[in-house]
Amino acid sequence: MSRCVIYHSHTGVTRSLAQKIKAACGADLIEVMPKKIYGGLSLYTIGMLRAIRGGQDPIEQQKIDVAGYDLVILGTPVWAGKPTPAFNATISALKGYEGRKAIVLVTCGRDPGQTAGIVRKRLEDMGMKVIGVFVFTEKDLKEGKMLNELIVKVNASMTE
Ligand SMILES: Cc1cc2nc3c(=O)[nH]c(=O)nc-3n(C[C@H](O)[C@H](O)[C@H](O)COP(=O)(O)O)c2cc1C
Repeated sequence: MSRCVIYHSHTGVTRSLAQKIKAACGADLIEVMPKKIYGGLSLYTIGMLRAIRGGQDPIEQQKIDVAGYDLVILGTPVWAGKPTPAFNATISALKGYEGRKAIVLVTCGRDPGQTAGIVRKRLEDMGMKVIGVFVFTEKDLKEGKMLNELIVKVNASMTE
């Protein structure tokens, strides 16, 4: 069964989680790269404002074809309670997603706000079958229990 983890990561937390999933379950990793990386103040002004508005940032990948995967794990950090603009663009770039199973992965400090619900709804509206939603706070990342639950879910997805 083929799986991929498609993610945006600004400071490396979501990337590190994706790498752990790859190590535990075997998955292709697709890191989405914004064409312009926010630096300093622009992150907390332009970047956050764009996240709040549900906007999209241009990304390097024009299309991300997931037709060859049985399970697509999609990961975003939380910015101001919302998915990042690069992640919003990631969903728009998906191709071949009809009927694919998906798991939503969110990383945040303490409060994910509306992020998980927004991502879930978007994927379901596109016709993807969301079989799991995992929100990792800093505490969850340290504890490791949720990662184990996620790995069980990924491995069980073969039979769902
Ligand atoms: C601009 C910005 C806004 C953020 N807003 C939130 C927030 O609303 N709630 C929260 O719990 N964490 C927030 N965080 C923390 C990140 O979501 C968290 O550190 C995440 O795991 C970072 O993932 P990354 O390293 O893959 O980019 C914010 C971080 C940044 C840089």
